[in-house]
Amino acid sequence: MARLKAGVLISGRGSNLLTLLEACAATDFPVEIALVVSNRPEAGGLSHAQRFGVPAAVIPHRDFPDRESFDRAVSAALEAAGVELVCLAGFMRIFSSWFPARWANRILNIHPSLLPAFKGLHVQQQAIDAGARVSGATVHLVTDDLDGGPIVAQAAVPVHPDDTADTLAARILKAEHALYPLALRWFGERRVRLVPQPGKPDRVVIDGIAPSGAILWRP
Ligand code: GRF
Repeated sequence: MARLKAGVLISGRGSNLLTLLEACAATDFPVEIALVVSNRPEAGGLSHAQRFGVPAAVIPHRDFPDRESFDRAVSAALEAAGVELVCLAGFMRIFSSWFPARWANRILNIHPSLLPAFKGLHVQQQAIDAGARVSGATVHLVTDDLDGGPIVAQAAVPVHPDDTADTLAARILKAEHALYPLALRWFGERRVRLVPQPGKPDRVVIDGIAPSGAILWRP
């Protein structure tokens, strides 16, 4: 089976991008990264792409009059690179509704909480403030509903009583680095299916993986 071509969108340091690049560097990994796109020229992650010899494009959002025209430029770059699946990895732009419609069910994101708890920004502080005992990371499909698309896989970590947002973020980030390549592999293996639920959003099923196989526990 041909390797699935992924495009990774970043805005910053790119530690998740790095773990995806490392995973895809293995010859038996079913995904290759065809393009990295950053909306910020100073994004640290761009150097990771360069080191792995993966093409990278900088498309500054400020160069565009509105969200949709930026989204269309990003989409055109992804299409030109033959991308089949888009992975958001610390991409700090909200899409217009055009982009998730164009790439429906082909956009993945990693979010540093156990969704649907703690959406949006500063989610580690949200978890601490709520007194959550457990938090973690979620890989989900991206829809028009911010941080609300179908869940693909989750990794859980404990929240310690003395945690700060930074210590919790570091623990979650380690879990993210295990989770994202795992979920990406399932897409490359074409195991990911969407199951319609009448009157409710679609649910993700991973063929050949028990539901518990899509949960990691990282104490
Ligand atoms: C990660 O915590 C990710 O979950 C969130 O943004 C952060 C990106 O970090 N969406 P990095 O750029 O991958 O290091």
